[in-house]
Amino acid sequence: MSERIVSLFSGIGGLEFGFHKLGRTPLLFCENDLAAQAVLGAHFPDVPISHDVSKLKRLPACDLLLAGFPCQDLSQAGGKAGIGGTRSGLVDHLFRLISTARPKPKWLVVENVPYMLSLDAGAAMRHLVSELEHLGYMWAYRVVDARSFGTPQRRPRVLMVASRTEDPREILFSGNQNPGDIDGKPSDVDESAWYGFYWTEGSRGVGWAKEGVPPIKGGSTIGIASPPAIWVPKRNFVGTITLNDAERLQGFETDWTAKVEQTVGLKKNARWRLIGNAVNTGLSTWLASRFENPIGYDGVSSLRIAGDRWPKAAWGHKGKAYAVTLSQWPELCQTPRLERFLKDPLKPLSVRATSGFLKRALVCTNVTYSDRFLESLQAHADSIVGSE
Ligand SMILES: C[S@@+](CC[C@H](N)C(=O)[O-])C[C@H]1O[C@@H](n2cnc3c(N)ncnc32)[C@H](O)[C@@H]1O
Repeated sequence: MSERIVSLFSGIGGLEFGFHKLGRTPLLFCENDLAAQAVLGAHFPDVPISHDVSKLKRLPACDLLLAGFPCQDLSQAGGKAGIGGTRSGLVDHLFRLISTARPKPKWLVVENVPYMLSLDAGAAMRHLVSELEHLGYMWAYRVVDARSFGTPQRRPRVLMVASRTEDPREILFSGNQNPGDIDGKPSDVDESAWYGFYWTEGSRGVGWAKEGVPPIKGGSTIGIASPPAIWVPKRNFVGTITLNDAERLQGFETDWTAKVEQTVGLKKNARWRLIGNAVNTGLSTWLASRFENPIGYDGVSSLRIAGDRWPKAAWGHKGKAYAVTLSQWPELCQTPRLERFLKDPLKPLSVRATSGFLKRALVCTNVTYSDRFLESLQAHADSIVGSE
């Protein structure tokens, strides 16, 4: 196992959490957001925090380097500037630091959003792969959904593991479960279920999830971080989740980010951004446990035909890339129903927000909504109109 860990782009420590749980606490964080620094300081008071990756001169000797680098330029919700963008492009400091490290880290873990597999005709992945290979690393990646580990949030993320001396497939490629189509479509309604969706969307998609929430985000299409909404058909009710429940849906204990509110000069709203940017701790706990127990990989892979879209899992070295067929679910942990999982009452979605969503949904041609859903949302708005 990797004894000495360094974490770049540490955020609030979601990726690091799983390793910490197994007794491997990073020896250095690197994070430039003041609110995230406050949270890291509260939970890891003994770990120094370097404040800017671009100013970090060299890496301390380490066995494992963690880097969940900024996703804003690579995500659907962001500006889509790509891997050369000012934020996601910071990943180049990872390669700069590795290039001068003596010895080089035995293992690397890189994490980001799956949209980067197709954005700019796959340019981000080509960049990562070519830099890693230039530094002598063999790499493997896999899209993994955090929901596989038991929290009711759909959250697929690209996990990439690389090593110069070990086989990263032994970490990432075990477990291949198939839960089937668990979310259904906004056109089908099960009256007894609770459904998560994004009330800020409606025209292009909605993030529909049955007994789960769509990925919690650090920002949204309306420019601010906004919590997903939950529709409760039986009660003709729509409400948004609280910060506490958002933390729990990311696998943190309640109040993990509370330090932000206790620190003068920090805005409370920053908590949503930090939570939305974090790696789900169910996912990081699985990943850390895989380092404890690598399993020989002898699955089938096929030479990847160069194209503009990367597969959901692949590995490669020395200029060759191989596609692998693997699900996003290494494990099939039972996720609790939302009604049982959420601890706080939902906050009723305002009339304005509900009406805005309905307006967009009614003219949307990309998604087929059931009449039941739309009528129920209207009933919700009608029922709270006088009470706001
Ligand atoms: C995707 S988030 C990382 C989330 C983190 N791995 C977690 O699980 O909580 C990317 C982080 O990179 C940080 N970041 C951005 N620019 C940075 C810089 N110049 N130096 C260090 N960190 C930076 C952001 O503030 C953000 O917290």
